Amino acid sequence: MKIYAHRGSSGTHPENTISAFKAAAALPVHGVEFDVHMTKDGELVVIHDEKINRTSNGQGYVKDMTLAQLESYDFGAWFSSKFKGEKIPTLREVLYVFKDTHHHINIELKSDVFPYEGMEEKAINMLRDYRLVNRVVISSFNHEMIQSFKEKAPEVETAILFMEVMVAPHLYAEAVGADALHTFFPTVFRRMGQEAVASGKKVRVFTVNEEAYVDMLMSVGIDAIFTDYPKKMLDYLNNRK
Ligand code: G3P
Ligand code: MG
Repeated sequence: MKIYAHRGSSGTHPENTISAFKAAAALPVHGVEFDVHMTKDGELVVIHDEKINRTSNGQGYVKDMTLAQLESYDFGAWFSSKFKGEKIPTLREVLYVFKDTHHHINIELKSDVFPYEGMEEKAINMLRDYRLVNRVVISSFNHEMIQSFKEKAPEVETAILFMEVMVAPHLYAEAVGADALHTFFPTVFRRMGQEAVASGKKVRVFTVNEEAYVDMLMSVGIDAIFTDYPKKMLDYLNNRK
């Protein structure tokens, strides 16, 4: 079973910052996951929420601020004074951290609340620019965006994100044009989870921070977990008999 560092090494570093990504890049984990929004001036930036309130010393929506405005805030001190001075990273800056590593990169496009116009094209251009198309999976809770992304860049792996109990999500994923299913981990123990694994589509689950769940998840045949504690989970996987 593979491990993705969720929002970077976000249990030990401020989520979605260059520090969190450098810590993940230094680990022999399979991959990294992070979240992308778009600024008022059309820049793709890496942050989880629509607003900057929770993870910075500022307030307001990402979509209402320019990159320059966003860069004036501190995105590290809320987590610990040790990380004071962390800036919001752009997608380009985060891709640069993983440019020469082995890591698989899960870019979650957060366009389910605000439909960021042109987000897919910007991401596709950047991935082609960095020659990362073979090392990336694009996911979203906005499945219309996943469909449109796949049409524009069929060579890039795509995944639907969902938390609900669904009927035959692997068939739905096929209709959307998604290669993989990224789901909330209790759902993989339902019938739909078993059917999805049996269909041969990759099933990856979020967010798993307890070692106690690992064996159970491995027994159902999932491909990977997303975790805030990649080092701890990797140690557990390497040391289990
Ligand atoms: O991509 C997996 C996971 O990150 C989805 O949920 O809210 O943590 O972005 P969230
Ligand atoms: Mg995410």
